[in-house]
Amino acid sequence: MAVNDMSQLLKHELGDLLFAERTFLKGLRKMSKEISDPMMKDRVTRHASETEEQIGVLEQAFEAVGLKPRAVKCDGAIGLKEEHDSFKEDEDPSPEMMEAFDLGSGLRVEHYEIAGYRSAIAIAKALGNDECARLLAKNLDQEVAMATFLEENALMAMQKLG
Ligand SMILES: [Fe+2]
Ligand SMILES: [Fe+2]
Repeated sequence: MAVNDMSQLLKHELGDLLFAERTFLKGLRKMSKEISDPMMKDRVTRHASETEEQIGVLEQAFEAVGLKPRAVKCDGAIGLKEEHDSFKEDEDPSPEMMEAFDLGSGLRVEHYEIAGYRSAIAIAKALGNDECARLLAKNLDQEVAMATFLEENALMAMQKLG
């Protein structure tokens, strides 16, 4: 279907975010098994639960614009997942280095999500759909909190692993 106006663009972006969240949910569950640091593991597990909620919030965002939730293939999310998986397959990392890699990999994902939510919020606001924008901002806040946590704790975690 051709995208010719902002509401169609928002539909595409919501679908893209939905696909990405589903992809990252699987990734977070995988990642939580690779992490040994208890504080990191706990936070990643909690973000996996938050991600489940985010999927529900996105479904509500679709409803706020009068649409049925429908995912659209997100090449960026697939690429980020592949980057993680190919590091593991191609570089034969030790468990410690896999864990250290995961912190950076996780941070990349959070920033990708932040960019996606910020642009979708701008589109929802341009359309005057404040409810949709509010719902998306809920998810954005969780992504920002997760990114901040990873940034603030990465050094300490790396020092333990290295
Ligand atoms: Fe997310
Ligand atoms: Fe996230």
